[in-house]
Amino acid sequence: MTDKILAAIDIGSSKIASIVGVKSADTEDLRVIGFHSATSRGVKKGLIVDIDEITMAVEESVEKTERMAGHKINQVFVSVGGPHISSLNSHGVVAISNPQSEIVEEDVNRAVEAARAISISNTRQVIEVMPREYVVDGQAGIKNPIGMTGIRLEVDTHIITASHTNLKNLDRCLSELGLNNSGFIFAALASAQSTLTDTEKELGVVLVDIGGGKTDICLYVDGAISYSSSIPVGAKHITNDIAVGLRVSLQSAEKIKLHLNHYLKTKKDAHKKDTDLDLSQLNLPENVSTVTLKSLTDGIIAPRLEEIYKLLEEEIEKSGFANAVPSGLVITGGGAMTVGLIETGRRSLGLPIRIGTPTGVTGLVDELLSPQYATTVGLLLYGQKNIIAEVGWKNFNRILRDIKLGNSVSKIKEFFKQFIP
Ligand SMILES: Nc1ncnc2c1ncn2[C@@H]1O[C@H](COP(=O)(O)OP(=O)(O)OP(=O)(O)O)[C@@H](O)[C@H]1O
Ligand SMILES: [Mg+2]
Repeated sequence: MTDKILAAIDIGSSKIASIVGVKSADTEDLRVIGFHSATSRGVKKGLIVDIDEITMAVEESVEKTERMAGHKINQVFVSVGGPHISSLNSHGVVAISNPQSEIVEEDVNRAVEAARAISISNTRQVIEVMPREYVVDGQAGIKNPIGMTGIRLEVDTHIITASHTNLKNLDRCLSELGLNNSGFIFAALASAQSTLTDTEKELGVVLVDIGGGKTDICLYVDGAISYSSSIPVGAKHITNDIAVGLRVSLQSAEKIKLHLNHYLKTKKDAHKKDTDLDLSQLNLPENVSTVTLKSLTDGIIAPRLEEIYKLLEEEIEKSGFANAVPSGLVITGGGAMTVGLIETGRRSLGLPIRIGTPTGVTGLVDELLSPQYATTVGLLLYGQKNIIAEVGWKNFNRILRDIKLGNSVSKIKEFFKQFIP
């Protein structure tokens, strides 16, 4: 078996990050060999608002990543997120076809297909069909029914859908750059791959990815993804509030936000709220040289965080699993680094909260192992899990050019199964 190259693009409202990794044949390691993050353009709250702008930004990011990796990128997994994402859980039932009543992979596929047969509006597209659990002759809680004996197989699946128009726009951007799409992956699902532990997923946990323009959510119960959603508020809103509160530009407000973060991490007297924060070294064009810590943290940032937590609480209620997440929240995305995030959250929700930092890759990881890149790293991990190992990438490219499949990962997986002996 040869080494495999995996590539992904994380299209965010703040940054566009491209990544290339190698899955070597003889180790478990997924080694990052190329990575680049560029300021995003043409994306708002997860929606493409300017195709030309986004195409230029993706091109820049991909070219720099290719140069670093010394490898041409042909095939990419792509993140999607934002309030156009919605989810539902659907049930499928089939009779076991085998006369010996042994369940085979084909039965499982038929059951998943039956669950997938939902009617959705033609403005939406399914991007994910994830089995949650199987039921064999009434016995629930089965993770893998293949090899079991039974006459009736049921499956509970989690289905994620996204705006068809937005996916089409993303596809146009990729095809303009000659890139093949390996599959759209919900950003919070990718982040969950790189930050959550198996124990957290088993116990019940909410993955929260606070990006620039939106906050994506993915809820796990009994080890299975059970609810996906997104709220239209992100860390840029905090920047916005600082700009309004201090009467400065958005650029200056972003600088102040990051400076505050740095100051609180490094200074001993940082806990004293009446301390003045010296802004003179930031050389802001506006005439502000100092501001009190208290006015920034308690007066401007905390109220916005409280609003985000309130919206998150509403989403968790809406999921119907509010009492099934004892592991609390794992918060990631650039917004996870906001000052006072954990304290405000614990106060507002009364749930355990930790910050999720991506893990699971080796190689060029110094910059990558920050909450900001949880989705980026997660896309590679998801790709590694879902791409069929036996198919070489050269063949993969050629074959993909010849076929017309939708872009869902499961569809592509199904297609490749026919090549496996
Ligand atoms: N050290 C930090 N302290 C506070 N905020 C930070 C820090 N670093 C980044 N951020 C904030 O994180 C946000 C960007 O997060 P991220 O890179 O996850 O967004 P994105 O993935 O591009 O956007 P989205 O997922 O919403 O489309 C910005 O608003 C930025 O101000
Ligand atoms: Mg993001």
